[in-house]
Amino acid sequence: MVLSSTRCKWFPVNVLLLLTYSATALVEDGLLPNGDFEATPPGGFSSEAGLSEGEATIPSWKSNGTVELVESGQKQGGMILIVPQGAHAVRLGNDAEISQEIAVEKGSLYSITFSAARTCAQLESLNVSVPPASQNIDLQTLYSVQGWDSYALAFQAEEDNVRVVFRNPGMEDDPTCGPIIDNIAIKKLFVPDNAKDNAVVNGDFEEGPWMFRNASLGVLLPTKLDEETSSLPGWIFESNRAVRYIDSYHFSVPGSKRAIELLSGKEGIISQMVETKPNKPYRLTFSLGHARDSCKQPLAIMAFAGDQAQNIHYTPDSNSTFQTANLNFTAKAQRTRVAFYSVYYNTRTDDMSSLCGPVVDDVRVEQSGCKGITPGFLGGVFGKPNCYVWTQTKSKTEKYKGI
Ligand SMILES: *[C@@H]1O[C@H](CO)[C@@H](O)[C@H](O)[C@H]1NC(C)=O
Ligand SMILES: *[C@@H]1O[C@H](CO)[C@@H](O)[C@H](O)[C@H]1NC(C)=O
Ligand SMILES: *[C@@H]1O[C@H](CO)[C@@H](O)[C@H](O)[C@H]1NC(C)=O
Ligand SMILES: *[C@@H]1O[C@H](CO)[C@@H](O)[C@H](O)[C@H]1NC(C)=O
Ligand SMILES: *[C@@H]1O[C@H](CO)[C@@H](O)[C@H](O)[C@H]1NC(C)=O
Repeated sequence: MVLSSTRCKWFPVNVLLLLTYSATALVEDGLLPNGDFEATPPGGFSSEAGLSEGEATIPSWKSNGTVELVESGQKQGGMILIVPQGAHAVRLGNDAEISQEIAVEKGSLYSITFSAARTCAQLESLNVSVPPASQNIDLQTLYSVQGWDSYALAFQAEEDNVRVVFRNPGMEDDPTCGPIIDNIAIKKLFVPDNAKDNAVVNGDFEEGPWMFRNASLGVLLPTKLDEETSSLPGWIFESNRAVRYIDSYHFSVPGSKRAIELLSGKEGIISQMVETKPNKPYRLTFSLGHARDSCKQPLAIMAFAGDQAQNIHYTPDSNSTFQTANLNFTAKAQRTRVAFYSVYYNTRTDDMSSLCGPVVDDVRVEQSGCKGITPGFLGGVFGKPNCYVWTQTKSKTEKYKGI
């Protein structure tokens, strides 16, 4: 903690060296040491499916139980094992785990991104923990036909050194079954301040988990009910299915570089409790779009703000992959829930099975009629419950009438 702030301010060269040689250097954003399992283990990669037990057989990782380095092209029972990236990945047998200790900034929020694939069992899951926090992720093949996906989970660092643990909680009859994991990365998250005129935190979705520049499947965000440790700061994922975090390098994104693609109908809900003033009129606005990922139309979302709900269809326009939509509501309390889900279960037209759906971005909640005027000022001067445009021109007054 001290090191990193010192590095920036005063002794860039010296402290950088220190960081390089110190075992407790803070973990940097990006791939964890040997997070792609491509570092050569002592004795080399064994094509004999080297069942490795004990410590340090996989550089930078500790393992317990049957942990196997798998190689791309490796077959099992006539099936080629999936290696999400590069030439190697690891497979966790029954109750097996791998872990790595990392130095973090105590109290900060971090997100772990990793890729995982199922092998033979129907129901495979992974228990990802950074004790005391843990979460079970069910690995499904519905999300992409590649047979693997990337997931992200966040945790708050309770110590300066934490252990990131991946465990296969399964007990399959066939001990060579078990999830394959690869490409484990970390990112320190910050919670963006919301703009004065927008009650939504991280409404543009720009702050979120690590995404590899060339990973084209996006990152799945599984159920997370605790907004304090969400890998998409500000937002929670209320439903039992994941939503997909997408980037502009591989998808069409309405604003800037990141957005959310809603999957699985009502089973994929994102929401946020925004601060509001009771009895004031507000407007929720957002971009609704198509990710240009061959998602079969129609696309539509249900948008909720307080007690208002609206079904909005994406209407394709040849010049744009998104439109803006809005919903007017009157706040009933100090906090108002804003939520979105996809109305349909959409799949891609090119493979007919990967889940996809409408894109949501640039979510704003503004007090109505207050554009360019400080609500506090009007409220203070006129003591009115909302911001009718006392000082505006006639045309603008008309525009805001009826709110
Ligand atoms: C390995 O796992 C077993 C069973 O879960 C546990 O009893 C044992 O303490 C673990 N060993 C180490 C070194 O963590
Ligand atoms: C991304 O690019 C890096 C370096 O160019 C490469 O090593 C890696 O395999 C790529 N990852 C994926 C998922 O394609
Ligand atoms: C994951 O594993 C840890 C340690 O084995 C356990 O304490 C925790 O309850 C598990 N988490 C879930 C969500 O099952
Ligand atoms: C698309 O853009 C062109 C040129 O800017 C314009 O003439 C046309 O009306 C636009 N089409 C739609 C559907 O908005
Ligand atoms: C919300 O109110 C504004 C201003 O009166 C209006 O332009 C807009 O169409 C309304 N939105 C909806 C969905 O009714």
